[in-house]
Amino acid sequence: MELSRLVVVSNRVAVPDPTGKGSAGGLAVALREAFQAYQGIWFGWSGKVAAHPSSQPKLVDKERVQYALMDLTSLDRQEYYNGFANRALWPIMHYRIGLSEFSRADYAGYLRVNRTFATALAQMVRPDDLVWVHDYHLIPLAAEMRALGLTNRIGYFHHIPWPAPEVLGTLPGSRELLRAITDYDLVGMQTDRDADNLRRALMQEFGAAQRKADIVDLGERQTRVKGYPIGIDVRGFEQAAQRSGNHRIVRQTAAGLGSRQLIIGVDRLDYSKGIPERMEAFERFLIGNPDQRGRVTYLQITPTSRSEVPEYATLSRVVNETLGRINGSLGEPGWVPIHYVNSTYPRSVLAGLHRLAKVGLVTPMRDGMNLVAKEYVAAQNPEDPGVLVLSKFAGAAQQLTDALIVNPNDKFEVAEAIRDALYMDRTERITRWERMMNAIRETDVSWWAATFLRDLSGNKSLGRTRTQV
Ligand code: G6P
Repeated sequence: MELSRLVVVSNRVAVPDPTGKGSAGGLAVALREAFQAYQGIWFGWSGKVAAHPSSQPKLVDKERVQYALMDLTSLDRQEYYNGFANRALWPIMHYRIGLSEFSRADYAGYLRVNRTFATALAQMVRPDDLVWVHDYHLIPLAAEMRALGLTNRIGYFHHIPWPAPEVLGTLPGSRELLRAITDYDLVGMQTDRDADNLRRALMQEFGAAQRKADIVDLGERQTRVKGYPIGIDVRGFEQAAQRSGNHRIVRQTAAGLGSRQLIIGVDRLDYSKGIPERMEAFERFLIGNPDQRGRVTYLQITPTSRSEVPEYATLSRVVNETLGRINGSLGEPGWVPIHYVNSTYPRSVLAGLHRLAKVGLVTPMRDGMNLVAKEYVAAQNPEDPGVLVLSKFAGAAQQLTDALIVNPNDKFEVAEAIRDALYMDRTERITRWERMMNAIRETDVSWWAATFLRDLSGNKSLGRTRTQV
């Protein structure tokens, strides 16, 4: 019998860079090992827009994996990606009801793209293949595939938070999304709290029963909903940090610092990350600790993101204004308090910059996991590690309990944590760092992918019929 293949589906597909220089994103690193164990296909949007896209994907074979790339129309991109996924779902999932803009046309576009993807996949998928779908762009994909008659085991991993039922319930169409999610055999969430939120929503909406701790029973179908905290390639990141000293940007940053201490933040430009709030907390720290002026530099690395979505353009203006105001009011000739860069750096450079930084500021307003927190820890020098200041609203806070845990809405609390981090003695820094390293090693990226796939492939007992709920 042929071995099952792994078919991964995600909105973005990371085809290896032909120059070999590009940095692999988190998911690409996570899947690399899974693709060693299974022959694989990675299916998704090419990132390109075409006037008349083909209904069949373009196939690219590389390093044991077949990449299957679909183009979208510009209307698809507008309605599915910018519209429903990023303007309606994303804010709701991050508890920002007031920012969510629902439009029926966008929702129809979201369903249309999911149907197009399902139709193309139905031609490629063999009966024994395991299908692993990633993230909020593709929640209805399994339902569309089931409607086409596919009975494969299909898993879904949700990379972002899953909100409380009361929050999700404010989104028009959320009941349909909940119904669609039950077409997956296994649904993975970043934390047990997120898994509990989804199970409660299913029980409230459909009167489902909870069979075992993690199985929701809807009569003819059962869906397992469970937390699988995503990890990083700890060894790879550690090694990149150790080797990073020769990199031009890392050297220049170290030279520019002189005897100043470095505080670092690395986030996509997204309102969920709390960037202006963090800058204001740093301002508060400088006002409360005038002796620290000229002695610390805060480097915020923020690649721009989703700039066609109006809320992101507004955020960009707010960040620039906040930055200008703080640097203008507190800076001095020869010292700029906050360095703000929009470039995207390879992981090797980020690893080196994290290692230079005495404090890592990871203070999102909400985050599924936040891998930057784990990368900051992995990059540290074991003899003299820096301190992580971490938002209680990042999934990572469930595991990294030895970070300085803060409420990102309270800039006084964050300012105090910055101060405590800078003054923490070496013995305490080492103790905290060792415990955090143990936590991230235990649930690294290989553990994450292997555990999810083991549960998905062993899920045979979970009955699957084509009947709709
Ligand atoms: C989050 C999501 C990913 C997404 C990434 C970048 O991490 O969970 O699915 O790919 O943001 O966002 P973008 O819109 O640029 O793909």
